[in-house]
Amino acid sequence: MKGFADRVASVEEYYFSAKLREVNQMISDGKPVINLGIGSPDLAPDKKVIDALKNTADNPQAHGYQSYQGIPELRASIAGFYAREYGVNLSPNKEILPMMGSKEGIMHLSMTFLNPGDEVLIPNPGYPTYSSVTNLLGAKAIYYSLDLAKAGRPNLEELENQDLSKVKLMWINYPHMPTGAPGSRAMLQELVYFAQKHQIVLLHDNPYSHILTKEPISILSIPGAKDVALELNSLSKAFNMPGWRVGMLVGREDWIAKVLKVKSNMDSGMFLGIQKGAIAALNLGENWFSDIESTYQSRRKLVWKLADKLNLSYDLKAAGLFVWCKVPEGKTADQLVDELLYEKNIFITPGKIFGSEGEGFVRFSLCMPEFKILEAINRIK
Ligand SMILES: Cc1ncc(COP(=O)(O)O)c(C=O)c1O
Repeated sequence: MKGFADRVASVEEYYFSAKLREVNQMISDGKPVINLGIGSPDLAPDKKVIDALKNTADNPQAHGYQSYQGIPELRASIAGFYAREYGVNLSPNKEILPMMGSKEGIMHLSMTFLNPGDEVLIPNPGYPTYSSVTNLLGAKAIYYSLDLAKAGRPNLEELENQDLSKVKLMWINYPHMPTGAPGSRAMLQELVYFAQKHQIVLLHDNPYSHILTKEPISILSIPGAKDVALELNSLSKAFNMPGWRVGMLVGREDWIAKVLKVKSNMDSGMFLGIQKGAIAALNLGENWFSDIESTYQSRRKLVWKLADKLNLSYDLKAAGLFVWCKVPEGKTADQLVDELLYEKNIFITPGKIFGSEGEGFVRFSLCMPEFKILEAINRIK
């Protein structure tokens, strides 16, 4: 054996992959851990979604390899969803590529666009996968900060002062995880101009557009965006289907075709039952979103109460599936996370795993029923 690839040294095991081993061990040891760490929706998908999966699984003809581009009915449902929810018209055959979750989409996009040495703009704090995939490919992450007082606007003035000639991609994500910064149409328009000016491909990662937002926004609804931007979207959070692994990439036909060229070498399509379930989800009416909205509203009020009890500060206008809190002077975020986990058996996420700008912050997930959040509140004296 002559050693592992150098790229293995460029990444750490994903934080939750390692930390949840410890948390699960604590649970097996009988500790009543309340997990407010990970953003995996605990609510069930709609019954129609589960029935579509079951009915398909019962069909002996349904178990073969599937199309690399998803079945036409799935692409048509995605097109219908984009037209209804975001006012964006997409060609089902050319501008839509179903994905097995948006996380894998981040890898496919990066492999399609990046050579070693290319540069990528990445939000700090931000979803850790943008940087780890960039590192795995030998490209270079250039971090940008977000102005939380301006809906999470990237500091474009600071970026304009840098040499952007090697920057090929810019990851953006609104509503932003972990901060909950909502973004705005005006800000996305500025980003489209920025991408046009510097010939950068804008990659909008959009899994939280329906979670505690005023209106769902797609980057592709912004004038000029279709020329410079692609969007990843996901059924994980919006339809309570994180374990199903269904997402999509939408946008420019020629760019989607290149991603398919890469991706079709890596998987052999998505199980038909999952595609049928996804179709059922994408065709649920507006009531679906109003129901999950009210559940998350009530949970968030309780998490705010928990944060108040811990003297943490947070933004009432944030969107998405998490509450992002600043830890007051006198205690580090690590101390708070450890104290809560080992003394109160409450697991929350330290902000530093999302980048250096996450130091001094912690993240609470809303993926726990109200009675559990109440129990957590009661554990704090
Ligand atoms: C910002 C962001 N992008 C992408 C993902 C991945 O979602 P999916 O389940 O679609 O792979 C997550 C999951 O937590 C996320 O927070």
